[in-house]
Amino acid sequence: MTKALMARLDRLLANLGYGARREVQALVASGKVTFDGVPLKDAGKRIAVTADLPQHLMIRGVPVDPPAPLVLLMNKPLGVVCSHREDGAKIYDLLPRRWQIRDPALSSVGRLDKDTSGLLLITDDGDFLHRVISPKRHVEKTYLASLDRPLSGKEGEAFASGTLMLEGEEKPLLPASLDVVDEKTARLTITEGRYHQVRRMFAAMDNHVVALHRERIGGITLPGDLEPGKHRILTTQEAEQVFS
Ligand code: URA
Repeated sequence: MTKALMARLDRLLANLGYGARREVQALVASGKVTFDGVPLKDAGKRIAVTADLPQHLMIRGVPVDPPAPLVLLMNKPLGVVCSHREDGAKIYDLLPRRWQIRDPALSSVGRLDKDTSGLLLITDDGDFLHRVISPKRHVEKTYLASLDRPLSGKEGEAFASGTLMLEGEEKPLLPASLDVVDEKTARLTITEGRYHQVRRMFAAMDNHVVALHRERIGGITLPGDLEPGKHRILTTQEAEQVFS
């Protein structure tokens, strides 16, 4: 068994976004922070940072937020951006306010365009993030694309060929698979994450994507009952399903 990481209580609470070090120290001194129902009076006490921490550590009787590493599954709505740096409404605005100041910070695992909806993973676990987006892993991503014009019938072969070049690029795309849903709708599975890849693939076939929705990343499928803008916390085992 791996040894649990230990952290000072004040540092742990500050990193979870409950306030500056001084503020959380005052909170602890007020007796509002309890462990298994017993008030903790020493902000310097070292606490084992385990996934079940919220079952033990409470603030005013409310379980603390789950500690890092945290993996979230979001149904990204249209109109929000994944980048911290871009202007406009962000995926992070859809999360509890405290989570926006957590340390380590939460980041999306790859990006979806502002006008793409669907499955998005968000994490503060850099190792997990890099494993998912690593080009070596070839994690599959499936998108449902609605198109402006009827499919020509040539897309499946072109996408599967491993020779399709996107405009302005020097390396051909890896083979991708296309399932036709109807004459203007297709499911496309890719294993890379190039900039605007799906839209550019259909543009290379003289078509235009009018709506794009990600349904799956590896072994994780967007749950049908998760409304746009909502998220769910994944257990470590659920998050690892992405590689299955
Ligand atoms: N491909 C795109 O073109 N856009 C996305 O958001 C994801 C994949």
